[in-house]
Amino acid sequence: MKKIATFLLVLIMLVLALATASAKETSPRILVAYLSRAGENYHVGETREGSVSSAYAGYIEKGNTAIMAAVIAETTGADLFEIKTVTPYPDEYASMLRVAQEEIDSNARPELTETVESMDEYNVIFIGYPIWHAKMPQAIYSFIENYDLSGKTVIPFNTHEGSGQSGTQQAIENALPDSTVLQGLAILGKTAQEDQENTQAMIDEWLEELGMKKVNSTEDAQVLATYGAIQQAMIDKDIETLDRLYLDGTTFTHMSGKTQTKAEFFGEIADGTLNYFAYDIQHPQITVSGNEATLSASVALTAKVYGASGTWTLPVNAHFSKIEGQWYAHN
Ligand SMILES: Cc1cc2nc3c(=O)[nH]c(=O)nc-3n(C[C@H](O)[C@H](O)[C@H](O)COP(=O)(O)O)c2cc1C
Repeated sequence: MKKIATFLLVLIMLVLALATASAKETSPRILVAYLSRAGENYHVGETREGSVSSAYAGYIEKGNTAIMAAVIAETTGADLFEIKTVTPYPDEYASMLRVAQEEIDSNARPELTETVESMDEYNVIFIGYPIWHAKMPQAIYSFIENYDLSGKTVIPFNTHEGSGQSGTQQAIENALPDSTVLQGLAILGKTAQEDQENTQAMIDEWLEELGMKKVNSTEDAQVLATYGAIQQAMIDKDIETLDRLYLDGTTFTHMSGKTQTKAEFFGEIADGTLNYFAYDIQHPQITVSGNEATLSASVALTAKVYGASGTWTLPVNAHFSKIEGQWYAHN
């Protein structure tokens, strides 16, 4: 009975700490890796004098997938990486059709020019590509096979001119059985190239569903910074900072209904009853409305509380108010 009570108390304290505490890492590190081809392509750009391709082939300065990749990176706060082959792809559309078919026929693994230096540091990897002959370019296999992506979250995206994802979601899932592959997004190349507003709207909706939208305003960033400062103070047992960043009168309510004051809660941090070591915040979502804000996320917490050590992942819902330009936490 005593054991169960202790366990419950530990759990209560964890939930309590998470509900009010903050993060060392503000968001997962995200990479947007993509392959895209500028030059002559189908249904986009200006037709060039002397082209041997069909009347539908025009010339573009920036590839359709490159445009989509840039929007995803901007919207999620990710790093961008362009997958490039040592042997460049032809500019001319008709030649490109032939080269792509040859690569498929030989199940090629075209050599890539660069590698992502610190792949280990990324936990979410978007992989983008055009559809070529109803498939993803063979160079995407080269890229995937260059790294150990097991345990990482992988999210495909692509542009096309009618084929949609064309089975590539499945192809990526098959190629990465030890990764978590989330639902990808396919956008018409012409839309990515010519309709910025629609492209952004589709990407926003998709990222929203995946919970991948980044902190997108200064206010959001400030709320997150406050959350981060509280987090650091909990790890550092910096009671002065905790006392300043939690509004007076904040209470910490246990699942049992029992409440603790700031002084009681901070006292247990100070005396070593509650010890926090690391936080990993996953998919933080911040909503700011005037001077009020909420932050929700999943948090993996490493702590030692009441003698029990471990890492627990729990949902967090923290509330903030802005007073004279500074955000403060409360319940
Ligand atoms: C070699 C080649 C093959 C293509 N095959 C298809 C296809 O099978 N289905 C399709 O919908 N679009 C196909 N397309 C159109 C491209 O998928 C589309 O233009 C895409 O947006 C190009 O992206 P990028 O500009 O990033 O390279 C093909 C284009 C090329 C160059």
